[in-house]
Amino acid sequence: MKNKNIITNCLFPAAGYGTRFLPATKAMPKEMLPVLTKPLIQYGVEEAIDAGCDVMSIITGRGKRAITDHFDISYELEHQILGSSKEKMLDDIRGIIEKCTFTYTRQNEMKGLGDAIYKGKVLVGDTKPFSVILADDLCVNPDGDGVLTQMVNLYNKYKCCVVACMEVPIEDVHKYGVIEGNQIEDGVFMISNMVEKPDNDKAPSNLAVIGRYILTPDIFDVIEKTKPGKNGELQITDALCEQAKKGMVIAYKFKGKRFDCGSVDGFVEATNYFYELEKTEK
Ligand code: UTP
Repeated sequence: MKNKNIITNCLFPAAGYGTRFLPATKAMPKEMLPVLTKPLIQYGVEEAIDAGCDVMSIITGRGKRAITDHFDISYELEHQILGSSKEKMLDDIRGIIEKCTFTYTRQNEMKGLGDAIYKGKVLVGDTKPFSVILADDLCVNPDGDGVLTQMVNLYNKYKCCVVACMEVPIEDVHKYGVIEGNQIEDGVFMISNMVEKPDNDKAPSNLAVIGRYILTPDIFDVIEKTKPGKNGELQITDALCEQAKKGMVIAYKFKGKRFDCGSVDGFVEATNYFYELEKTEK
């Protein structure tokens, strides 16, 4: 059946080295770290499916083969557990593989998130808006729509790039892209400026961008003209700031929780959260 949604493609930049998780990430992709029994990237893919996407485009790099294998059939294993009680443990991933198409390309050098997204042009095309999920930002909304679904709804209203944001303590702003903007409706800001990892005392606000974006395809032209920024990397924050100045980009204070699973603290917090959730559901 043809997908009737406008945003059908979700891009997963997953080429980073995950150095904060060494030695675990020496030979294993950070995106494959499990929260309970499910790898981080599978949570992201499930959120994208809920938001109406059925093409998952993944930016990989050296040492990331496990991601490709995860979203494929494992004949030997499936044959081995056929008919046993363990078979149902693969139900969800089998469903995902049936529903979605997975496409991949490599980012050969870690030149920054803006560059990783630009590499995705060959996968998502340059005619339609697409979504972006950073799998190490694990998002949940126990009270309603997932975070990406909330953002797709907002895209349908404003038809422009949307970034997810949240309030963080001012002493943490140096870890994020930070926005400045006017509130145009409850929790929705029209961005006038964005700064990548500002010093705490120079941040324009405490509204930090997290790993969920809806991007319009003209972002690729903007990225092409964007120069390397903070840490010599091509920053998506700089490209979006440019986009905001010549058109419109909105930041959305999403409903739900976000765990920074790129850090050990956030990862442990997510594990505890899902463990408690699973215990209460049993
Ligand atoms: P991070 O900076 O959090 O990821 O990038 P990292 O570099 O893997 O982690 P540490 O700091 O070394 O522990 C955010 C996301 O952007 C992707 C990463 O894979 C991660 O999902 N990314 C970042 C790329 O794909 N390419 C890049 O050049 C940079």
